[in-house]
Amino acid sequence: MGDFQKFYEKSPEERLKILKDFAGLSEEDVEVLRSTGALGIETADRMIENVVGTSELPFALGLHFLINGKEYVIPMCLEEPSVVAAASFAAKLAEHSGGFKTSSDEPVMIGQIQIMGFENFESAEKAILENKEEILSKANERDSVLVSFGGGARDLEVRRIESEVGVMLVVHLLVDVRDAMGANAVNTMCEGISPFLEELTGGYVRLRIISNLADKRLARAKAIWKKEDLEKSTKGFMKGEEAVNAILEAYHLALNDPYRCATHNKGIMNGVDAVVIATGNDFRAVEAGAHAFASVSGKYKPLTKYYKNKEGDLVGEIEIPIAVGTVGGATRTKPEAKVALKILGVKTAKELSEVMAAVGLAQNFAALRALATEGIQKGHMRLHAKNIAVIAGAKGDETDKVSEKMIREKKISVDSAEKILKDIRK
Ligand code: MEV
Repeated sequence: MGDFQKFYEKSPEERLKILKDFAGLSEEDVEVLRSTGALGIETADRMIENVVGTSELPFALGLHFLINGKEYVIPMCLEEPSVVAAASFAAKLAEHSGGFKTSSDEPVMIGQIQIMGFENFESAEKAILENKEEILSKANERDSVLVSFGGGARDLEVRRIESEVGVMLVVHLLVDVRDAMGANAVNTMCEGISPFLEELTGGYVRLRIISNLADKRLARAKAIWKKEDLEKSTKGFMKGEEAVNAILEAYHLALNDPYRCATHNKGIMNGVDAVVIATGNDFRAVEAGAHAFASVSGKYKPLTKYYKNKEGDLVGEIEIPIAVGTVGGATRTKPEAKVALKILGVKTAKELSEVMAAVGLAQNFAALRALATEGIQKGHMRLHAKNIAVIAGAKGDETDKVSEKMIREKKISVDSAEKILKDIRK
């Protein structure tokens, strides 16, 4: 057994010693954890519990994004090869028809308050609705800062949920969270109004928490990809019309098959999450919201849709809940997140959510185009081979030499990279 008693009270250095003994780490292993990046161990230690180090991701730039007539450079953080290249490629191709047009809802989040144990649903509902204004003002008393920035509790809804353990009354508190992600504000308000709701309904409150199905906070993007550009992108391998049809066929598989649809939406989230992470936002919240929204009709659906316009060009659209902030949380504590927001130059959380929607659409279009035309492995393999070459110990221009040879020989593995490296170095 490791000596993990009161681990959280120890310093990161003390924790590292305990961990080193427990896991049999070498001094180099410990150094890997100890050498923190821009975040620094002190900030990391204040952010979460039991910290022993930090973990890094590449910070890259998605390019050529023309959104509502403005050029954006998009910070993207992720570990997967090809994603940044694919998003930039799709954005460049969309530039020819004016780039992305986006829009979004006001930043309204839903807080849920679960009430049970009331005598009669209808009278509990009536009592809540009759006292709506007082409930909202009690909620707003809990966050005067948000109210001073023009946000606050706006409205409420009452829902009836039948369950195996009885009828539940669920209040949805609708809160305009302005430029925050909103979880803190919403949770505080939900807790704050609960005693009054118990008083009004004669029931008891159980859960008081934000809903990550942020379907009042949708972001949308639209772009057109011209058939001539699509033809060029296949280097003559396909005619423009054929490429448009191929992408539409790919989309229709996602529309009708959850197995494909999960992968289709995963590709969208490759782009969205990369920006969410770069800006220090909560990618679990955005993921949960996206997939719940995709299935809210009872059928799991793609977050994008595609159709042909009268010119025969491909139109792509996305609609996705995006609960992200430009203030609060890690957006301000993570130094790279602050720089990412500066690079983006977004003024509001709403604008940030629209940029993310555009990146999601670009990512999805790029994946569909590649899959429906030449397949994705070619591009993927190039980067994969480079990674393998580095793992095998290639340095500097050896990396390209080793990876190109592996691709030519169609043998991409650490084993073959090591052999090639040996030959090169002879
Ligand atoms: C890989 O991370 C994402 C794709 O599988 C998305 C898709 O299939 O649409 C390429």
